[in-house]
Amino acid sequence: GTPSLPPPIRLDLSDLDARLMQLVQQLAPSAEQRARQQQAWAAVQGLLQALWPQAGVHLFGSAANELDIGGSNDLDVCLELEGVEETKEARGEIISQLGEQLEQAGMLNVFAIPRARMPVVKFEHPETGYQVDITVNNRLAVVNTKLLRDYAAIDPRLRSLVLLVKHWAKRRRCNDAYVGTLSSYAYVLMCISHLQARSPPVLPVLQEMEPTHRRTIGNWCCGFCDDTSALAGFGRGNGESVAALLACFFYYWAHQHDFRRGVVTVRQSSAMTKAMKGWTTRVGLERHLFCIEDPFELSHDLGRTVHAEGCDKLRHEFRRAWDVLRHAGSSSQALQELLAE
Ligand code: GTP
Ligand code: MG
Repeated sequence: GTPSLPPPIRLDLSDLDARLMQLVQQLAPSAEQRARQQQAWAAVQGLLQALWPQAGVHLFGSAANELDIGGSNDLDVCLELEGVEETKEARGEIISQLGEQLEQAGMLNVFAIPRARMPVVKFEHPETGYQVDITVNNRLAVVNTKLLRDYAAIDPRLRSLVLLVKHWAKRRRCNDAYVGTLSSYAYVLMCISHLQARSPPVLPVLQEMEPTHRRTIGNWCCGFCDDTSALAGFGRGNGESVAALLACFFYYWAHQHDFRRGVVTVRQSSAMTKAMKGWTTRVGLERHLFCIEDPFELSHDLGRTVHAEGCDKLRHEFRRAWDVLRHAGSSSQALQELLAE
């Protein structure tokens, strides 16, 4: 649905916007941080290619779609191997083996989780101090990283909104899927769907357009329009500032989203419901309280990790954020309270 405009706020939005854009500049990695990240990636890539000469090595996640905050030293890496069964058992075996090899190669704090939904090995690269997560044949993550990057290329307000929301979520401790709140990836999808739903829209729905990028991964169709240069001016009809979009973002999650029935999606412009997805009952640990559909792996609910307290916490924080913006006397006070730890 189309979010209506929130009730007017007293704050001077243009002053708030100037401050937010300044904050975005500070959050974005500096040229030096980018160079360090590139260096770390080159080193890790070299190491993996030496261990597995026949494998492809891909960077994904925020270091690859430039939706990262400076100073975070995480790399999400996918090892692509031919002839490996697409099961978590087959991936898990490779992850265990890789864990031993990485330890022998002198990597620090190597920790393999071969039995996860997506088996992963985590380690610290000693020369650069980077924290690296390696998964095997995680092709969906590579393609959804491209989708996010392409959305960010269409309108720069997406990246600003994402950096601010990630920063807010970290400060307010709402950014941890392991403790019942949401992953960064889930927040990025919420930002995209929000910008798609503005009227007029800031972002198109790339999966509803004629696909120029076509891929099938397992049984999932991963096609979408990736002609970002043709779409570069798409959001021009919407003149909202980042400050206005951020305020509307919190207002929407605080007061307009239908948590009981609704599902967040970036793949279609029409509304989606839990009933349509069959996400109405609890299955094992999957609770479906706050539902966010993965753009390609359609059976995957990014909100599955949100438990009852996590959901209450998130809703409380959305309402708090909106109240802070609505009642603050000045934009500096608003920012300070919004981002208070
Ligand atoms: P930061 O590391 O906080 O900057 O965020 P990020 O954008 O790298 O996201 P995150 O670390 O949460 O996830 C990394 C990537 O994993 C995402 O970009 C997705 O491509 C992929 N991914 C796919 N499914 C999931 C999922 O269920 N949870 C998470 N966290 N990531 C997923
Ligand atoms: Mg990451």
